[in-house]
Amino acid sequence: MAFKKVGVVGCGLMGRGIAEVSAKSGYDVVVSEINRELLDKGMAAVKGSLARAVEKGKLAQADMDKTLGKIKGTTDMMDFKDCDLVVEAAIENLELKKKIFTDLDRICAPNAVLSTNTSCLSVMDVAAVTKRTDKVLGCHFFNPVPVMKLLELVKTITTSKETLDAAVEWGKSLGKTVIIAPDRPGFIVNRSFMPYMIEAFEMYEQGVASREDIDNGVQLGLNHPMGPLTLAAMVGLDTLLFVTDAIYAETKNPKFVAPILLRKMVTAGQLGRKTGKGFYDYK
Ligand SMILES: NC(=O)c1ccc[n+]([C@@H]2O[C@H](COP(=O)([O-])OP(=O)(O)OC[C@H]3O[C@@H](n4cnc5c(N)ncnc54)[C@H](O)[C@@H]3O)[C@@H](O)[C@H]2O)c1
Repeated sequence: MAFKKVGVVGCGLMGRGIAEVSAKSGYDVVVSEINRELLDKGMAAVKGSLARAVEKGKLAQADMDKTLGKIKGTTDMMDFKDCDLVVEAAIENLELKKKIFTDLDRICAPNAVLSTNTSCLSVMDVAAVTKRTDKVLGCHFFNPVPVMKLLELVKTITTSKETLDAAVEWGKSLGKTVIIAPDRPGFIVNRSFMPYMIEAFEMYEQGVASREDIDNGVQLGLNHPMGPLTLAAMVGLDTLLFVTDAIYAETKNPKFVAPILLRKMVTAGQLGRKTGKGFYDYK
């Protein structure tokens, strides 16, 4: 089974990146949004991303034009009917994802593979609303999709080998390093990432060290591109709280209990760069 036409539900931060890298690798792409305005915004962002690659000399103008020609934007889910693979990248809400998968299961051909880009929801919960649980898996990309080299594929207890093999081939064809994670809370990456971030938040909260020393210590001592408190501002403190709460809800593992300060900062709207304040001031 080799995919030729890829559908992407949602043209937000992740969906537009998945559409871009798929089209750039030669796939025909259909990407959907809930209305024309958001679709236009998403498509403009794809164009902007490709134009920046052309400016930097990383992409030929002809390849940019070819890539854009391969992406069809839509607000009609019926346009997914002849896709071999659909990646759902709508907002992180289980009920919405279940609704989208119910629709996709009805619209897409019986042999089409359906996947979700969820960061922390149970893929099995989404798969269970379909009549093709063997053809459902998680395709967890990282932000920004055109830059980040990793694709974490999430195999549920019902995903077939054929489905997984086809997704691995597709991921590799996008130039990604593919890892295979079980459908367990946090998969591989967030399960490693969250306890590390929580430790940094707690060190700060308990006054163990200054925010600068925590960031410099990790950045320079462990050779990370940035320290955890700086990274938190980029990811969004609300997203981090949501992820750790979701993992804790399923595992009850105390490693994932959100620090009180993190919860208070989110309540106060101190979400990081997007609101101008996190552990540092960004105004
Ligand atoms: N942002 C990240 O760093 C990141 C990383 C990995 C995974 N994820 C996951 O990817 C998914 C998308 O995240 P995002 O950051 O791109 O969110 P986003 O809010 O930027 O984009 C989501 C888009 O989906 C659209 N949408 C909602 N319902 C839809 C529907 N029924 N049909 C079509 N479009 C619909 C919204 O209008 C919105 O534009 C989430 O599940 C998130 O957890 C995000």
